[in-house]
Amino acid sequence: MSARTRPRFLMCPPDYFRIEYEINPWMNKAVQNDRANSVAQWRGLKTLLEELGCEVAEVTPVEGLPDLVFTANAAMVFGNRAFISRFRHGARQGEEPIFADWFEQDGWDVIRLADDMSFEGAGDALFCGETLFAGYIFRSEVRAINWVADQIERRVIPLQLTSEQFYHLDTCFCPLSDESAIYYPPAFDQYAQAALRAHIPELIAVEKDEADRFACNAVVIDRHVVLNTGCPVLETQLRDRGYIPHATPLDEFLKSGGSAKCLTLRLNS
Ligand code: ARG
Repeated sequence: MSARTRPRFLMCPPDYFRIEYEINPWMNKAVQNDRANSVAQWRGLKTLLEELGCEVAEVTPVEGLPDLVFTANAAMVFGNRAFISRFRHGARQGEEPIFADWFEQDGWDVIRLADDMSFEGAGDALFCGETLFAGYIFRSEVRAINWVADQIERRVIPLQLTSEQFYHLDTCFCPLSDESAIYYPPAFDQYAQAALRAHIPELIAVEKDEADRFACNAVVIDRHVVLNTGCPVLETQLRDRGYIPHATPLDEFLKSGGSAKCLTLRLNS
């Protein structure tokens, strides 16, 4: 795709978003999100993306599927192929046919993984340059990651995650360009940290307080970086390197273990 292609994202309005179950340490059914504020924060993110020149496509929300808002987990897209997620937890498996239908109707080549492999799409599989970096242990499995990498004939670097709070790769790692990325080192085992250092020339380490604000869960559009509020140190590091950070409040989604990146899926490159 040419550099001029308008960035296109998939999002899902938070009509039915709430904390209905607990599948990561951020989720606590006793700490519910505020409905009106969730809608306001989600709209703020969508508007910001549109102001940055992006097109936003929407999946229709479905009652009983509160995490459908986290479209990063819909699939991993590559060219015109959409590898639909196979969720680890039963609570999210109902999302699979909804996302598959959306991709079908949008004209994609829809690919389903075998039933016995879990894979959570762009939550765990991110390109930095030509290489696919994939997180495993909590949600996606190495077998699934290798299978997907085989299909697209790309080198994959599997990264073992170590902290339940950073259960998806996109909660602790964010490619900025072909040669640089943001990451939170303690979320990776020693081998994974070494692999990241070996393959990515410029790594920006995020500090704990900001990692806990989901600083790594950012949406990158050329030099623009959209992220949750409360990450001033990372914002400065980004500005020093010529990036333009845009902070937007997303606390309601943090209650479910998600932020800017989780709420979006980039559909083109
Ligand atoms: N509550 C959701 C879950 O636990 C949050 C998903 C966040 N998505 C992401 N790409 N990190 O699955």
